[in-house]
Amino acid sequence: MNILSVLAIFSAFLGTSVAFVFTPQGRDGGIRSATSLDATIAVFGASGLTAQECVYQALRDGDKVVGLTRNPTKLLVPKGSGGKDADKPLYDHPNLTLIGGDVTNPADVAKVFESNIDGVIVALGGKTSDVGDTMLTVGTKNIMSAMKSKGVKRIAVVTSIGAGDSKDQAPFAFKLLMMTVMKKIFTDKNNQEMAVQESGLEYCIVRPGGLTVEPPTGVINVIDGEAGSIPRADVAQFCLEAVKDPNFPYVGKTPCISSVGGTSWVKDRSKAARGQA
Ligand SMILES: NC(=O)c1ccc[n+]([C@@H]2O[C@H](COP(=O)([O-])OP(=O)(O)OC[C@H]3O[C@@H](n4cnc5c(N)ncnc54)[C@H](OP(=O)(O)O)[C@@H]3O)[C@@H](O)[C@H]2O)c1
Ligand SMILES: *[C@@H]1O[C@H](CO)[C@@H](O)[C@H](O)[C@H]1NC(C)=O
Repeated sequence: MNILSVLAIFSAFLGTSVAFVFTPQGRDGGIRSATSLDATIAVFGASGLTAQECVYQALRDGDKVVGLTRNPTKLLVPKGSGGKDADKPLYDHPNLTLIGGDVTNPADVAKVFESNIDGVIVALGGKTSDVGDTMLTVGTKNIMSAMKSKGVKRIAVVTSIGAGDSKDQAPFAFKLLMMTVMKKIFTDKNNQEMAVQESGLEYCIVRPGGLTVEPPTGVINVIDGEAGSIPRADVAQFCLEAVKDPNFPYVGKTPCISSVGGTSWVKDRSKAARGQA
């Protein structure tokens, strides 16, 4: 029995649905994805842990990347996909244009679109005490109006399990956080999602379960039930497919994704990954 059939049984047992299963790329002789067409991908919040994975994987697959972040030198090779290169500088990669700026400033966002962008990934985040109460919504609106003025259509936006109509897919403990310490973040996320849904763009709102910095599993489950955890590396792969695959099945949708065995809340090691613990 192979891993996929084990998974299918496992998820059937848990009442989740495996609607979207990725074939791991590049394991057998580095075969590239059929959807990899040397695109130029814009990544917003480029130094973030999920964004790092998006930047790294896109560059590895031969694409060009234009990134925006307030702190460019925070952009390092990610722990999940980076292997022995983890934590080395990524900000100086020759096929990366990295812009130091603030997504809430339209002039900074416009600098990203001075390049010809094929697809946009938004992986913004942070505590409201650092980023403010409305950064996600204001920033994402800036990005979307720049896209419209340049005719860029495809956007993947990382939000969260629990956002919008996925409220009941959040595990109980996470729901408590959403209603208390994360209340402002979720107000901003919900407004961000609404703006994306009203944009008329070819969007995919990606709602991951608990994020980890583990290596990619290559298997991503779109779930109807309660969310589990997922490596940021897998979230990034999903986002890249979302903006590069013309026939991506979740355009105009809001998939909740979790990963192999992702049926329980796995401790997030991101503090350590940021060098904070
Ligand atoms: N942790 C979890 O278990 C979990 C679960 C589900 C969903 N999520 C969500 O998933 C998303 C990604 O999470 P993550 O932990 O990978 O991200 P992260 O490491 O917190 O990165 C977020 C990035 O946003 C950038 N940013 C913040 N304000 C900005 C601004 N004004 N202009 C430009 N860039 C800005 C920051 O870069 P600079 O500081 O360099 O500007 C930061 O690197 C977040 O929205 C998070 O809420 C998290
Ligand atoms: C940069 O992109 C070019 C193709 O445009 C590719 O040939 C080259 O290998 C890339 N550089 C790196 C370091 O990945």
